[in-house]
Amino acid sequence: MIRNESQKRIARLRDEIARHDHLYYALDKPEISDAEYDRLRAELEALEKEYPDLVTSDSPTQRVGAPPREDLPSVRHVKPMLSLESVMNVDAAREFDKRMKKGLGSDDVTYAVEPKFDGLSVELIYEDGVLARGATRGDGSVGEEITPNIRTIRAVPLRLRAAKPPRLVAIRGEAIMPLGAFRDLNRWMTERELPAFANPRNAAAGSIRQLDSRITAERPLSFFAYEIMKLDGAEPPDTHAQELEMLSKWGLRVDPHRKICRTIEEAIAFHGDLAASRDGLSFEIDGVVIQIDSKVDREILGLRSRSPRWAIALKFEPRKEVTIVEDIVVQVGRTGKLTPVALLRPVDVSGVTVSRATLHNAGEVAKKDIRVGDTVRIERAGDVIPAVVERIPQKNERRKRPFAMPGACPVCGAEVVEDGAYHFCTGGLSCPAQLKRGIAHFASKAALDVEGLGAKTVAALVDRGLVSSVADIYRLDAAALLALEGFADKSAANLLEAIESSKKVALDRFLYALGIRNVGEHVAAVLAARYETLDAVMEASEKDLMTIHEIGPEVAKSVSSFFAEKKNRALVSGLRQLGLDVAPAARADGPRPLAGRTFVFTGTLEEFSREEAERLVQSLGGRAISTVSAKTSYVVAGAEAGSKLAKAEKLGVKVISEKEFKKLAGA
Ligand code: IVH
Repeated sequence: MIRNESQKRIARLRDEIARHDHLYYALDKPEISDAEYDRLRAELEALEKEYPDLVTSDSPTQRVGAPPREDLPSVRHVKPMLSLESVMNVDAAREFDKRMKKGLGSDDVTYAVEPKFDGLSVELIYEDGVLARGATRGDGSVGEEITPNIRTIRAVPLRLRAAKPPRLVAIRGEAIMPLGAFRDLNRWMTERELPAFANPRNAAAGSIRQLDSRITAERPLSFFAYEIMKLDGAEPPDTHAQELEMLSKWGLRVDPHRKICRTIEEAIAFHGDLAASRDGLSFEIDGVVIQIDSKVDREILGLRSRSPRWAIALKFEPRKEVTIVEDIVVQVGRTGKLTPVALLRPVDVSGVTVSRATLHNAGEVAKKDIRVGDTVRIERAGDVIPAVVERIPQKNERRKRPFAMPGACPVCGAEVVEDGAYHFCTGGLSCPAQLKRGIAHFASKAALDVEGLGAKTVAALVDRGLVSSVADIYRLDAAALLALEGFADKSAANLLEAIESSKKVALDRFLYALGIRNVGEHVAAVLAARYETLDAVMEASEKDLMTIHEIGPEVAKSVSSFFAEKKNRALVSGLRQLGLDVAPAARADGPRPLAGRTFVFTGTLEEFSREEAERLVQSLGGRAISTVSAKTSYVVAGAEAGSKLAKAEKLGVKVISEKEFKKLAGA
């Protein structure tokens, strides 16, 4: 085809594909088969490959995702993104109705009622009809720019379907993850020993706030539009109903479950209907939004600082179900804490099969008087893990004995002691349950970040006797790993490499990794900033620890007694002997300009030894690692850089020179 013809064909294909995307993703009414659709795309891709200069940002081929960014940039919203006042019961909705009538000085009010989508709110900016920007809500005034991620959502048109689009329009709506996709994603995460998302909202947020939009592109998100925040160069709609029509005409997905109500009772009835049918929807909603339909009336009623006066969210009751407690078992956590867990007769709570629920502690079980065999009400808010709300007494029931915490640890048999509301196993790391969780914690992302050493692998290593302390992971070799199910040459080599590169660790991460009671990520960072070196933390007295502003008596005690114990000191020195190098922290008041960044050094540097450069990175809050991955922030290439440089280029990781590195580090 000659260029001119190709150009026309490209334009036609883009229109066709955009039309089918709209039919499929916004209207849910596809007209062609997937195979036909794929053919159209393949043809367009081939033509664009031939004429790369004809590729435009609104071409459907541009929904693919781009290499990772280092940070999500901030953007100021065109207007503050307000929230809604939430109410839990219909009486509060009636109160709202009274306020509206009083505020308007009239009994004639019209409400626009629609679902409250359970996702995260997003602002889209279209300039001359072309998607120019997408941002999260953030704090309401300033959000995170997520344009490349938004572009991957098929329900978001890259170009508005309008002959004469407005010069500028800011559209607000909700990015959501459909339930089917949510379940698939969690299954995928669990199989890889990654933490599952508690609910579709978190999954949507986690997917959209990615630095790497290629990940977002793999997550089937959708988007419902519900508000025009700013409109330049077009006639503004008079009512909310017209606004939604306008959005729908432009090609955005607008949910059809909406109703114009002339009375609050009508709105309440709609809320009831939707509550009854919500389990049939393919996405999660958590209530209805009731708002004044007329824009003029909204002006009269005005805004509060964080929410408009003219709207409320009338939430749904949490989902409840009744089932039977088949057993109460006791789980042992990383710190030895015993948690009673109810094993339930599996029950479907709106699409999620629930078979266990936490009972928190012995006091809670006693208070609710939950026993094996009882009939109980469980409640699931938006989350996957439910709570046991109460026992439902049954007629003529013959109840079992009350639950009692065991006197010996169910895993290792060590004595159990009480501390406040909780019970603890005293077995320490000789208890396999604590050991497994302790090692998994040590290797976790916020600690030493050993990729590939998740709970399942750790459990297998402990069960086979290959690992009986944290230090043992540094003694593993390929032969040991290959003995485990699921390991092959490549995966074993990868894990060994990840273990090797975890040996250089910043002080705060190491302190967190040790799993000292009451020392979370934040306290670990406070300690590192104050003491700078591991030895100084280890020698700190309880009294000295107490002088730190953010550290109270309980934390001070946990830290000093942890390091007073011989076996813990032995663990630290053992780790050091195995090559673990805990980098001193930046001074308390020192800058951390490299926080969150990872660096890989390759080749020979002129002014620094490798160790000096790595220490510098660590002292400025960054991390120096040895393996290049798509997540690496920078590869610093010195003279005769080799395969790591090639890998960085292949993965699109930013490569900088020693000079640029010095500038970044302010050295
Ligand atoms: S209207 C002035 N409509 O609920 C506020 N919000 O706290 C305009 N939401 O942050 C919001 N579905 O993310 C509106 N149909 C809907 C909604 C909705 C979900 C979210 C939105 C907002 C939160 C309210």
